[in-house]
Amino acid sequence: MRHPLSLVLLCLAVGGSVGCQSGGSMNSTSVEVETWGELDGDRVQRFTLRNGNGMEVDLSDYGAMVTRVQVVDRNGRAVDVVLGFDSIAEYPEKSQYFGCTVGRVGNRIAGDGFDLDGQSYQLAINNGPNHLHGGERGFDKYVWKSTEILTSRGPGVRFTRTSPAGEEGYPGTLEAQATYILTEEDELVIQMSATTDAATPCNIVHHTYWNLGGHGSGTVLDEMLEIDADRYTPVDATFIPTGELASVDGTPLDFRNGKTIGSDFGAFPGNGDDPGGFDHNLCLNGEVGVLREVATLSDSKTGIVMTISTDQPGIQFYTGNFLNGMTGKGGAEYQKNGALCLETQAFPDSIHHQGEPGWPDVVLKPENTYGHVMVHRFSTEGIATSESE
Ligand code: GLA
Repeated sequence: MRHPLSLVLLCLAVGGSVGCQSGGSMNSTSVEVETWGELDGDRVQRFTLRNGNGMEVDLSDYGAMVTRVQVVDRNGRAVDVVLGFDSIAEYPEKSQYFGCTVGRVGNRIAGDGFDLDGQSYQLAINNGPNHLHGGERGFDKYVWKSTEILTSRGPGVRFTRTSPAGEEGYPGTLEAQATYILTEEDELVIQMSATTDAATPCNIVHHTYWNLGGHGSGTVLDEMLEIDADRYTPVDATFIPTGELASVDGTPLDFRNGKTIGSDFGAFPGNGDDPGGFDHNLCLNGEVGVLREVATLSDSKTGIVMTISTDQPGIQFYTGNFLNGMTGKGGAEYQKNGALCLETQAFPDSIHHQGEPGWPDVVLKPENTYGHVMVHRFSTEGIATSESE
């Protein structure tokens, strides 16, 4: 039974952790917090959001990340659909940006820097000859400040961090926020925002690895994907966009009518350091800045469907090509292509294409606020199967 949030929410202090939950039922709306461990002397917390439908989301203040999303499948079973690790200590060692908030600039910047307002800024080269995901120590490798929140849409956590001027070579002090809310409509809403005191590139990206068959359940090649994008940004051998905004027509990147991920997978074979597979930015249709439905992913085994809406211009579709069989939560094996990321974003390397037609403006100025919304809505399709099937 679903309860109107405003009528039933009670805030409780339980065993040193603060939780807010509706009276009584097991599947109540709540947010709970616990100490998960310690990293470099900093306490790391884990939060659990619950809604009234059995959906649960675990978050951590390390990297402002998602570590578990439990969804009820078409047979009523709880399935954890994201990759992660049991202990916080494994994240710095093994994680490939699992579930985290990437910043200050997600994805790649060509070479070792950029010019802005007549000044050159030097960045770390940490991916081949390029800069990736904010540098050596990006937003994903810090413990953020956190506040549990109860909104009219559901329980959540707001994470904030101050990125000082000069951090990883970027100009301006950036005040960043990442807020997660689990709604009674089975949506995981992610709102990212930032302000700065000097002009800086800014592209904060959410990096969960999804497998709607359940984490560790094999590859995602049989999952169905639809992406509303007429164009994509072709890349060179080091994954840097060439500058062209090419049509997806007749290419393996045409997901407009939906197809299984495996159907054209062979078009991107491995080659040397490139493990092959999809790792492409698609240019989303519709008006930038307006929240619109852009992608749908579904798994025929569980019947779980995830629809993504965003206000962003692009989406990085990445098929976990660098996953290497590492051991994840509960001993699960995360094999190559065992999950996928759908990272809404400004196009990679946009800072080198400012003012070019069709390219997003990624320079945040002190008079503006950066905003980025993602809504992941979960549902199921298909007819329940009996246990024996
Ligand atoms: C993004 C990039 C990939 C890879 C992953 C993290 O999706 O596009 O090339 O770096 O992040 O492993």
